[in-house]
Amino acid sequence: MESKPSSLFIFAEEPVRIVVCESPEQVAKAAAQESIEYLGLACSGSGQKVEPIVLGLATGSTPLGLYEQWIERYRAGEISFRNAVSFNLDEYCGVAPDDVRSYHYFMQENLFKHVDFLPQNTHIPKTDCSDLPASAEAYEIAINQAGGIDLQILGIGTEGHIGFNELGSSLSSATRVKTLTAKTRQDNARFFESLEHVPRMAITMGLGTIMNARAILLLATGLHKAQTIRDTVEGPVTAMVPASILQFHPNATILLDQAAASKLAHLDYYLDSERNQRSL
Ligand code: F6R
Repeated sequence: MESKPSSLFIFAEEPVRIVVCESPEQVAKAAAQESIEYLGLACSGSGQKVEPIVLGLATGSTPLGLYEQWIERYRAGEISFRNAVSFNLDEYCGVAPDDVRSYHYFMQENLFKHVDFLPQNTHIPKTDCSDLPASAEAYEIAINQAGGIDLQILGIGTEGHIGFNELGSSLSSATRVKTLTAKTRQDNARFFESLEHVPRMAITMGLGTIMNARAILLLATGLHKAQTIRDTVEGPVTAMVPASILQFHPNATILLDQAAASKLAHLDYYLDSERNQRSL
């Protein structure tokens, strides 16, 4: 069943391209390889691309393998983030940036401190301020001023959220303050002392913000994501499964391990389509 992608984002036979890897490790490796090629992160004799690269980043467990791969390739002298600007999807309200449970801390520990991003080029929504809506609006403006996102990395919540766009989110929403569902708070309670300590709100990029990215790479692994992936790819486009909006994106790829792909009704067809595309 393994299908190693050749080059992501080179075609859009289907609105959402499905690529299935054998294991979560293979998902991380494929995501690293394809993002490096697509963004031109590789160090070459003539230096990197002059144009700044704008990356949308995610937190959570899923992208950790990708970040490890990037770090390894950076340490091997193969890639650089010197020319990259990053915007993270979201940040909890009521958690200070230096708190170990904040996404600021997560990104510092799991990526930024290990590679050569210029600190002034990394952005995460600011929630340690008195005017949260104004902070969200400023974040959306900053993304646009940077020229928009070239590649957005996404994970997916068990109820189908991307970023913290919970069910019922406007399909064209911009960065804003969002209330977390009970399910999201439960899913994320593993990072906190108890459920009670999990924040109730976050600033998140909107679905409209995410859809403006020029390319999207959503990663999902594990059986617990299988039904959500099926709803996202094969169900109707609905605010009740916010990730289903990706069906409208012209350049979205979903990289799955076999477990996360296991409930797709048309899996054989997606694998066939992928094989055919690679033979072109
Ligand atoms: C993280 C984010 C969330 C996560 C999602 C999956 O910045 O915006 O949408 O991607 O909750 O989380 P994991 O990967 O921990 O299952």
